[in-house]
Amino acid sequence: MVFDVQAARAEFPILQRQVHGKPLIYLDSAASAQKPRAVIEAMTRAMENSYANVHRGLHTLANETTDAYEAVRRKVADFIGADEKEVVYTKGGTEAVNLVAQGLGMSLSPGDEIVLTEMEHHANIVPWHFLRERKGVVLKFAPVTDEGVLDLEAYQGLLTDRTRVVAVSHMSNVLGTINPVTDITRMAHEAGAVVLIDGCQGIVHKPVDVKAIDADFYVFSGHKLYGPTGIGILYGKAEQLAKLPPYQGGGEMIGTVSIDEISYADPPHRFEAGTPPILEVIGLGAAIDWLAGQDRYAIAHHEAELYRHVRERLNGANWLKVIGDAPDKGAILSFTVEGAHAHDVAQILDRYGVAVRAGTHCAEPLMRRFGVTSSARASFALYNTQEEADAFVDALLKTQAFFA
Ligand SMILES: Cc1ncc(COP(=O)(O)O)c(C=O)c1O
Repeated sequence: MVFDVQAARAEFPILQRQVHGKPLIYLDSAASAQKPRAVIEAMTRAMENSYANVHRGLHTLANETTDAYEAVRRKVADFIGADEKEVVYTKGGTEAVNLVAQGLGMSLSPGDEIVLTEMEHHANIVPWHFLRERKGVVLKFAPVTDEGVLDLEAYQGLLTDRTRVVAVSHMSNVLGTINPVTDITRMAHEAGAVVLIDGCQGIVHKPVDVKAIDADFYVFSGHKLYGPTGIGILYGKAEQLAKLPPYQGGGEMIGTVSIDEISYADPPHRFEAGTPPILEVIGLGAAIDWLAGQDRYAIAHHEAELYRHVRERLNGANWLKVIGDAPDKGAILSFTVEGAHAHDVAQILDRYGVAVRAGTHCAEPLMRRFGVTSSARASFALYNTQEEADAFVDALLKTQAFFA
C-alpha cells in the first residue's frame, strides 16, 4: 500500500506555517514530533467537556475522566501486545528508565554488572551511573562498529554471571541503527539478566510486540509518537512489576496508610503516585488511535525512501561525514560538514526554513566513539515529503558553499 503523505500532512496544522518567510521543513521529529489535529482536539475536548481528577471522585465528571484515562491504558496495551496491568504511565521515557533503575538498584550489590551500549541516549545511561555511584555496580558498554552497528559478539562477551541488567535502545537517536532486540534479550536472559529496552525511537519507526521481544521492560515517550509531552509508558512484565519497589510515594499508590505502617497498591497504580498527567494520557490515546488508522509498514517504507533519496543526492559529497550507516536503519541522518560547526550548519539551514537538530543529541559516549564533539541531525517523519527532502539537500549544498 502506498502511503498518502499529503493526506497525512493535512492533519498536522503546524506544517502550514512559515519560518523566515519560507515553508517550514520540520526535520527534528526524533527530538519531538508534531501533533495531528486528532491529538490537539482530543485534549481540548476533554478540557471543554469532561475533565476532573481521576480515581478519586464519585461525581459524573470524575467517573467519565477516569474511564477515558483507563481506556487509554487498554489502548496502549493493545498497541504493544501487553496486558493493561503491565502498562505504567510515567511523565516520559526518561522517567520510565529512572523508575526501573531505582527499583532494580535496591537489590544490587557492589560488583554487580550492568551492560549498556555505546549508542545509548543519556536517559539510558545516567540512571545506571547513579547505581554505579551509589551501589558500586560496574557499567559495561557494548561497542559499536564504524558503520554504527552494535557489535553483537562483543556484547555477548560482556555478559557474565555477575550481569544483572542489560539496557539497550531499540533504535539509536543518532545513528538510526535498529538493534536486534529479540536476540539481545535472549542472550541477556541466558546470562540471567533482566532486560530493559529503550523504545523511545524504535516504537515510532515500526509496530512493536513486547511479548515477541520478550524484554522485561520496554519504555517510550508519547511526544515522539505524535502525542503530547509529559506522558511516557513503562511496559513491565507482570512478574517484574510485582517485584519492583515503588518509585515515588503519595496519593493513589498505596493500599493503606497508618501512623506506623503502609502497604502499596498493586501495579500499575503502585508506580503512579499523585495526580497523573490526565490530559496527556488522553492525548496519547488519540495519537495511538490516529496511528492505528495508518498503514505503519507503508509509513516505514515512505520514511526509508526519503532517507535513501537524500543519501543518493548527497552521494560523493566529500565534505560530508555521515555518522551511522547501518543496513535497514531508520530515517535519521547525522552528519558533520567539513569546516563548519554543527550549530552554524543548523542555524543557516533554519534561514531556509529547515529545522534540524545540532549538538551531542544527549549521546556523548557515542559522539566520542565517532571522534566528533557534535553533529547536525535531520530526522524524517511520516509527514515529510520528497520535495522537502530535496529542499533540505538544496539548502545543505548552499550552506556548505558558505563554508567552502
Ligand atoms: C533513544 C532515546 N531514549 C530516550 C530519550 C528520552 O526521551 P524523553 O526526553 O522523552 O524522556 C530520547 C529522547 O530523545 C531518545 O531519543
